[in-house]
Amino acid sequence: DTPFLVDRFGRTARDLRVSITEKCSLRCTYCMPEEGLPPIPRQELLTTDEIVRLVSLAVRELGVREVRFTGGEPLMRRELEQIIAGCHAAVPGTPLAMTTNGVGLEHRIHKLAAAGLTRVNVSLDTVDREDFTRLTRRDRLESVLNGIRAAREAGMAPVKVNAVLMRSNLAGAADLLAWCLAEQCELRFIEEMPLDADHEWARDHMVTAADLLDVLGERFTLTPTVRADPSAPAEKWLVDGGPATVGIIATVTRKFCDTCDRTRLTADGMLRSCLFSDQEFDVRTALRAGADDDEVAELWRGAMWQKWAGHGIDAAGFVPPERTMGAIGG
Ligand code: GTP
Ligand code: 5AD
Ligand code: SF4
Repeated sequence: DTPFLVDRFGRTARDLRVSITEKCSLRCTYCMPEEGLPPIPRQELLTTDEIVRLVSLAVRELGVREVRFTGGEPLMRRELEQIIAGCHAAVPGTPLAMTTNGVGLEHRIHKLAAAGLTRVNVSLDTVDREDFTRLTRRDRLESVLNGIRAAREAGMAPVKVNAVLMRSNLAGAADLLAWCLAEQCELRFIEEMPLDADHEWARDHMVTAADLLDVLGERFTLTPTVRADPSAPAEKWLVDGGPATVGIIATVTRKFCDTCDRTRLTADGMLRSCLFSDQEFDVRTALRAGADDDEVAELWRGAMWQKWAGHGIDAAGFVPPERTMGAIGG
């Protein structure tokens, strides 16, 4: 028995992504339905103590080296600061990151940093207020921009900005890059994946990395760089000779599954080996039935052993998972 989370394709999961709520303050069309997701009953949500126990076990027993909190929107969970503080105390020295939409972040960033948060990635698809409001169905652009600035000022450098590529924000992509350069944020564009709750994604309609390079190339000189970390999803280009870069996470047209190092925990306590897996492993029930650390570790290793070679977005007969992005957390 190896102590690590390995799969049949020889990959080792080092990066744990923990969704702590399915609630969100925005309703991005590529992620959430207009009405939001049905609420998870309180008793089905992992508690702070349960999350801390699982994070601690993953790091101490299973080889996880970085933990990222996601949602929904992690700021929607009132205990976020306690969860981070608990994890920080349990596994000091392990990077604790968060992926957030940035709404209201400016008011909590100092408490989060004090609790032990080390890094934030903020989702922002456009700096045009009308486009933002149409895309997210909420008029909160200003709050997000303030959140990004506050995170940088709190020492969360580099703040990474994630932008999902869509027909509706492609024309504004160069403006978004200019804003991020001015704010010293590392911008990364992401190809949209078929994980939207409305099931409107279509392969022949999606915006690709190649489309984006054409648009950005009209205003910037982009020079490809060699990928420093093979398991990092972003490919980076130097902007106008550097040192600033822009990244592209080409999840669909240049998939990186063969170097994937991720494992996931959902807010209701299910282990997932892949964004697209059709199988979940119920660690919540195991915990509440009194499973000891060895039994939980065994369950987790078993879950990862079932991990697929990769997503089959381009394969015939592809079926998206039942759980959509808002409930997996990216
Ligand atoms: P860093 O450690 O800062 O590079 O963060 P990250 O890129 O791992 O995390 P983030 O939450 O910022 O994710 C950015 C985007 O990458 C997500 O929106 C997803 O679209 C995509 N992504 C993250 N993890 C995976 C994954 O395991 N598989 C695929 N296909 N895409 C992923
Ligand atoms: N495809 C690609 N990325 C997505 N995200 C949300 N939905 C999708 C999708 N359908 C991104 C968010 C966030 C990250 C966690 O996932 O913008 O940055
Ligand atoms: Fe990893 Fe699955 Fe994402 Fe591919 S689709 S990179 S295997 S989580």
